[in-house]
Parts: sequence; C-alpha cells; structure tokens
Amino acid sequence: MNNNNSSERIKRREFMLTGGKVAASFLFAGFESSKIFAAITADQHKNGIPSVTLNNGIIMPMLGLGTMTLDGPKGARCVADAISLGYRLLDTATIYGNEEFVGAGIMQSGVKREELFVTTKLWVSDAGYENAKKGFERSLNKLRMEYVDLYLIHRPRGDYKGSWKAMQELYKEGKIKAIGVSNFERHQMDELTANGGTKPAVNQIETHAFFQEFKAQNVLKDYGVQMEAWSPFAEGRNGLFTNQTLAKIGAKHKKSNAQVSLRWLHQRGIVAIPRSSQKIHMIENLDIFDFELDASDMQTITGLDLNQTQFPEWN
Ligand SMILES: NC(=O)c1ccc[n+]([C@@H]2O[C@H](COP(=O)([O-])OP(=O)(O)OC[C@H]3O[C@@H](n4cnc5c(N)ncnc54)[C@H](OP(=O)(O)O)[C@@H]3O)[C@@H](O)[C@H]2O)c1
Repeated sequence: MNNNNSSERIKRREFMLTGGKVAASFLFAGFESSKIFAAITADQHKNGIPSVTLNNGIIMPMLGLGTMTLDGPKGARCVADAISLGYRLLDTATIYGNEEFVGAGIMQSGVKREELFVTTKLWVSDAGYENAKKGFERSLNKLRMEYVDLYLIHRPRGDYKGSWKAMQELYKEGKIKAIGVSNFERHQMDELTANGGTKPAVNQIETHAFFQEFKAQNVLKDYGVQMEAWSPFAEGRNGLFTNQTLAKIGAKHKKSNAQVSLRWLHQRGIVAIPRSSQKIHMIENLDIFDFELDASDMQTITGLDLNQTQFPEWN
C-alpha cells in the first residue's frame, strides 16, 4: 500500500478531523514477558497461529490481517487470500468503508464463519446509545453476519459511555462475542467500568518498534485487558523495513525486519494485525512461529523506542 494513495489520504483526513489522542501517557514499569509468552504458547490455535483467551473466555488468534484501505473487489480478494493462507483474525472498521468487501472476501474463502474471528469498530460519528445500536446493525448488515467476534469503540470521542451501554446489551444478546476499545487511556476505561460496567476485553493501540508502549501494556495487564497492536510496522515509517538494528537481528534468525517486528510483539504477548495486499507478504508475516528472539534481541529492540506516535496527523 502506498502512503500517497488518495483514498488513504481521505481516510486519514477523516481520522484527523474526528480522531483523538492515542493512549500514551502511562508510567514505565517492568514487564514479565516470559510468563505471558509461556501462557500463550500453552494455548495453541488449531491452524498454527497461537491464541489468547480474553477476560470473558473468548479465544482470539494472536496474529491477524489488518484491512484498512483494502477495499473493493481487490480488497475482498486480499481477505480471501489471507484466509486461504491460514489467517483467521480479520480487523476492519466502519470508517475504513470496506466492511462489505471484508464480508465478501470471507464468503469467497469458503471457510466457515465460526472458524473466523472478525473485529469491527464503532466510529466517532456513531457514538451514543441509540447511534451505536444503529451503527452496529449497519456494520453487521455490511459484513452479512449474524454476529461479530469483537466490537471496539474506535476512539474515545463523543458519548462513548452511551456507546458502551449499547454494546453491553448487544453482547448480552449474543450479537457480539467480546466488546472492547481502541486508543483508550486508563481514565477512559475507568469511566466505562464505573458502576459495574463490563471491563473491555481488548484495547487496540498503536504499537511498533518506534512506539513500544510498555507503560500502557502494564496498565492493561493490571486491568486484565488484552493489548492489540495497530500499525505493527508503523506502515514502514521511519525506515522500519530497512532499519539496520532489526536487520542485524533478522540476519541471525534468517528473518526479515517485518518478521522480527511481529515476533517481538508476539513474545510480549501482544496481538498484532499487520496489513498486506500481497500474498508474498501475508505468507512472510505468518512465518514467525518457528524462531525465538533471545533476551538480548528483545533488549536491543527496546533501544529503538522513540516513545512517540509515528502518526502525529491523527492526534
Ligand atoms: N484502531 C486504530 O485506530 C487503528 C489505526 C490504524 C490501523 N489500524 C488497524 O491496524 C492494521 C495495520 O496497520 P496499518 O494498516 O496502518 O499498517 P501496517 O500493518 O503497520 O503496515 C502496512 C504496510 O506494510 C506493508 N507490508 C506488510 N507486510 C510487509 C512485509 N512483510 N514486508 C514489507 N512490507 C510489508 C504493506 O504493504 P503491502 O500491501 O505491499 O504488503 C503496507 O504498506 C490496519 O490495517 C487496521 O486494521 C487500527
């Protein structure tokens, strides 16, 4: 995907106009990655992609396909290709404008609905109790599904407490298997859980080698909320795919910078949803479960943290 692509520019503009700040203001604390890694590997998914059990008992694959900008029949083809290669988690959103094509790709794949894990997100313009219910039904219709596995509040804007109330009801009705948030900070999650509100199952936030979010991860761990990384490659910004530190580690394991990036997230216990429109990259991005970064590799990657978003235009 080319960052100059016009449809992406339009969508970025929409994000910029209505979007909010990414969770970024947490304090640093140590992280017991080895314990989490052990817990995950004990819970292997059937098709070889490890999974995690969310705080409500739902099982989620730890690696999936991001679908932002994958739209039209070509986007549907990408989704079908990814499923045929073994992907089971698909991440879409109302604002991506591609839910119908993600749904079409799933139909094309021929894989049973219950074998897949489909995430979509409520956009800012649908915030509030009534709007959220309508927005969710629109998403479901576009996807041509009876339920979604994970429904996220895309950004903490507008009446997100009203949205959460609607989502809790939809969850109880069985139309959503797990409810969660994206780009939320701790105090915003506190607002949702006050007065007995359901705890989010997932918080999807920007996380990659240049914005590592260890403090946010500790907050989520305390909370019992699964962390999910969006833009795990920072869309290649800041030279991620040619970064020499990642390349050196990759050479040791005969893996690419993309694979080292994904493996590093996996070993931290973070779900990742890399996007690709090319089968060759989809295959490469799946091929991360046959090697292990050692403690020194993990430490070296920690040194790449710039501790700031690579998408300032979205703040
Ligand atoms: N919740 C939120 O606020 C939020 C925000 C942004 C994104 N997201 C989600 O996160 C997903 C991933 O983030 P993203 O789409 O921003 O970007 P990304 O996954 O960080 O990067 C995608 C880019 O990496 C390239 N790529 C993929 N695999 C590669 C490989 N092995 N080698 C070299 N290049 C490779 C792709 O090009 P090719 O197509 O050529 O492979 C594409 O240009 C999104 O699609 C979306 O589902 C959520």
